[in-house]
Amino acid sequence: MDNKPLITIAFDGFSSSGKSTMAKSLAKRIGYAYIDTGAMYRAVTLYCIEHNLFDGQKLDTEELKRQMPDIRITFQVEKDGKSVTCLNGRNVEKEIRMMPVSSKVSIVAAVPFVRHALVRQQQEMGKNKGIVMDGRDIGTVVFPDAEMKVYVNASPETRARRRYDELKAKGDTTTTYEDVYKNVCERDYIDSHREETPLRKADDAIELDNSDMTIEEQDKWLMGLYERTISNLKRQ
Ligand code: DC
Repeated sequence: MDNKPLITIAFDGFSSSGKSTMAKSLAKRIGYAYIDTGAMYRAVTLYCIEHNLFDGQKLDTEELKRQMPDIRITFQVEKDGKSVTCLNGRNVEKEIRMMPVSSKVSIVAAVPFVRHALVRQQQEMGKNKGIVMDGRDIGTVVFPDAEMKVYVNASPETRARRRYDELKAKGDTTTTYEDVYKNVCERDYIDSHREETPLRKADDAIELDNSDMTIEEQDKWLMGLYERTISNLKRQ
């Protein structure tokens, strides 16, 4: 790496806004670590499902609180260089992206003690900078002092179409586009109306609506913003 200062880069936005793709691609180009914080909330949700902590859509928060110290979430880099999410040492990357987890994750992500535990872990992961983190509260709560903050948006239809195509590519043959669209709208509502740190744009975040942008256009836009952020820092 050259002598550019290391910074913290925060990506926030609604589900399936394409922020993970953008964040991952930027991290790779500039040699930064990438952390998908949504995957952490998803892994806790999978744990709750597997340990029967859900009765329908009702979560036994008391029991989850008791079991929280037993939940260990880590990221492991595979031979092909891809990072996968592990729940107590088991690769759960595929399961956490499926509908049973997607349909319950907003409930788990609204629980204050879950958020506090995961935020602490995220702050620890990013304490040395040189990190790109994506989520809902990165620029507002996890790293309010991040030097570069991006708030990504796209229409619910565009986002549902992306998630639907992803599910099909992963072999899901039962979920319909309408199911995905409904799930996207429900999660938007819960994520932006929950009491505990709802999704909102940080005042100093740069907003990007990528509904009509290609991946290449997004990458170019991001690199431009990164370069400008670095040169502003060097000037200070
Ligand atoms: O980005 P995603 O769709 O994988 O996120 C899954 C869920 O976790 C989503 O409902 C919002 C929640 N989440 C959150 O509340 N805070 C974060 N930092 C990341 C995700």
